[in-house]
Amino acid sequence: MKNRIALTPGDGIGPDVVAQARLALLAVSERFDLGLSFVELPLGGRAIDEVGEPLPPATLAACRASDAVLLGAVGGPKWDALAGPMRPEAGLLGLRAGLGVYANLRPARVFPELASACPLRPDLVEGGLDILIVRELTGGMYFGDRGRSPDGEEAWDTERYSRKEIRRLLERAFESARLRRGKLCVVDKANILESSRLWRETAASMAAARPAVELSFMYVDNCAMQLVANPRQFDVIATSNMFGDILSDEAAMVTGSIGMLASASLGDSGPGLYEPIHGSAPDLAGRDRANPLATILSAALLLRHSLGFEPGALAIEAAVASALADGLRCADIASRGNAAALERVVGTREMGAAVAERIRKETP
Ligand code: IPM
Ligand code: MG
Repeated sequence: MKNRIALTPGDGIGPDVVAQARLALLAVSERFDLGLSFVELPLGGRAIDEVGEPLPPATLAACRASDAVLLGAVGGPKWDALAGPMRPEAGLLGLRAGLGVYANLRPARVFPELASACPLRPDLVEGGLDILIVRELTGGMYFGDRGRSPDGEEAWDTERYSRKEIRRLLERAFESARLRRGKLCVVDKANILESSRLWRETAASMAAARPAVELSFMYVDNCAMQLVANPRQFDVIATSNMFGDILSDEAAMVTGSIGMLASASLGDSGPGLYEPIHGSAPDLAGRDRANPLATILSAALLLRHSLGFEPGALAIEAAVASALADGLRCADIASRGNAAALERVVGTREMGAAVAERIRKETP
């Protein structure tokens, strides 16, 4: 079985939350006798400090040689003044491109135990909210030609997509929709952008061969509005790198559980990359304040998609649900008012320990 896991904790709260996800994976490894092994590698700001660059070649090589990569978060004020290619974020982009993980799956759902954390009117999310954003991750404006004019007075970034890049991303999105509620909405700005028109053309040409999925299109500005006006209309949203970045933050916040949301980035072969949706939250770093559940749930996705070990994924997910059902909450997901009496607010380490202990004891 595949069992080599690369850990790139990164910056800010990244190391805090990855440490707890590692404990969860260790508990799974012991319970199911998987012999998981871990190698920890510098990435982002930490790599800049230690090695002088955000993605050291040794980090990329070790990630490529692993079966899956679990990432915390990168970036922080300490490195904000650096030029683009030397910033921590460049390390993350380089890792995504270097692993070829073009499909970023970002589920946004309301956890039943946390329904009161959702900032929308209760009737808008009644019956649950479960949206999957499939974001293109290795193309578009993030990787297009960019530059400055010699006098520094003009700057540009280019949105450029090939039919092949769009097609392979949409293949994942159609497949995800088929396995879920059968609805795929391609989000773009086709009333303005030529690249968006290529997205539409490609999606339309694929739809006939995939009759189980109902395909629709929406402009990105309207989608931003619909996500707060009527979020239950969405099942799977497929979109470009830039639009997906923006919409996935919005969708995550709509659930009220940004500290809970995991993500998986997958290519055609090779290791997948798993990370929480939230950022590095430098103000909380090292203070036992961060919610580790998004990273722990990313570890579950890692077991499912890259190691092919569903029982381990289910064990982690059941342990998280059990910890929540027992009233354990990190500060970001704690209730206010009456419901708070049934809860106990705990720190990063206590939450991680509670999950690991349940993995060892409980059967999913
Ligand atoms: C994300 C983040 C990254 C992105 C940053 C940190 C480069 O916002 O994963 O959504 O823009 O992709
Ligand atoms: Mg983002």
